[in-house]
Amino acid sequence: MLGLGAAAVAAAASGPLRAAVKEAQPFLWGAATAGHQVEGNNINADIWLLEQVKPTIFAEPSGDACDSLNRWREDIAIVKALGLNAYRFSVEWSRIEPAQGQFSQAYLDHYARIVDHCREQGLAPVVTFNHFTTPRWFAAAGGWENMDAPDLFARYCDRVARAMAAGMSHALTFNEPNLALGGGWSASPPPPAFMNRVIACVAAAAKASGSDRFSLLNAGDPAPMIPGVTAAHVKAREAIRAVRGDLPIGMSLAIPDNVAVVENSAIERKRADVYGPFFAVMDKDDFIGVQTYGRAYVGAERDVDIPVGVARRPGGGEWYPAAVGNVVRYAHQATGLPVMVTENGIDAADDAERERFIPEAIASVQAAQKDGVPVLGYIHWSLLDNFEWLSGYGPKFGLVAVDRKTFRRTPKPSARLYADLVRGRS
Ligand code: BGC
Repeated sequence: MLGLGAAAVAAAASGPLRAAVKEAQPFLWGAATAGHQVEGNNINADIWLLEQVKPTIFAEPSGDACDSLNRWREDIAIVKALGLNAYRFSVEWSRIEPAQGQFSQAYLDHYARIVDHCREQGLAPVVTFNHFTTPRWFAAAGGWENMDAPDLFARYCDRVARAMAAGMSHALTFNEPNLALGGGWSASPPPPAFMNRVIACVAAAAKASGSDRFSLLNAGDPAPMIPGVTAAHVKAREAIRAVRGDLPIGMSLAIPDNVAVVENSAIERKRADVYGPFFAVMDKDDFIGVQTYGRAYVGAERDVDIPVGVARRPGGGEWYPAAVGNVVRYAHQATGLPVMVTENGIDAADDAERERFIPEAIASVQAAQKDGVPVLGYIHWSLLDNFEWLSGYGPKFGLVAVDRKTFRRTPKPSARLYADLVRGRS
């Protein structure tokens, strides 16, 4: 399946639209955020409800997050001050369509203002239409397992596109819709006790919604949802393209640098399972977004533990910033598409680790580029220390620290270093 999908994508990638992508932009240097993780009080989202119910699987609720709903101009000002030329953010479906079929013009205007402001500041707005969260009503109606899901998503995308596609530089339909599939290959799957808590948390959310279901891609078995997501990607792409035919459209996938550690490694089975269904529907996409946080070692059946002897981080994980360069090469070779690094970063309480990480990661991407891989940009995750889903506010991926009480933003040394690197290279 993977081979067929890749061939089809490679053939399509030679069309006129693809040429437009290549000519459209200078290399994008950016930083990313996602609505639910930074805006705050995203109360109509499925994940907000999961944070509130008892039992919950979340370490803490998202609450005010970084208050970016109000402070988005400050965020953009930081991106600009760093000398970057792109800002990746997501629009929140649950704000735009808080009840099924009821669209909020005020929130469409809100996000359109962000797109416009990016343009005024000389930044390319890279916009994600779905970054994990969906509206509560959508989850309670069966989420991606609902027969109507692709049409519902495409209708929302149409509204967003009509409100702001004119100003976007790139559109991403989905952020990491393959994340849960990848989790199925994990070397250390979550223990049954945790899975039972997930089930109880989701059941509590269903009950609170007056439904017998509450269906999310990242909470439960993803397999029955994937056909809905892939169909939604195709319909969303058509809807967005109908509004603006020359807007480069893609989707971001979570792809570690997979390494086979035994001769009969399951690496190709893993790739077919975790990326194959998505590659197969990206045949008419303009680019692929890759999101890489490290390496995965693939044994005969599944991922296995990090081998002894590899370089380690102080916390114990592997130190391998060059993973992203290898993934850029893989993604292009597998799909034939230009590649944008839409996320790459490190959870580092000690910012000095991020300072060491960034130059190595970027060098690996540029080495791939030198070898002929078409790379559209590098977007660091994340602009801000933000709400890291299940882990709450513990992990620190940000180039910029955010005071949890005053919301004051303070760029870290790694942000300066990134800015200097970009200045030197552009
Ligand atoms: C997600 C982000 C997340 C990041 C770090 C990616 O999987 O797209 O939302 O914050 O990883 O955990």
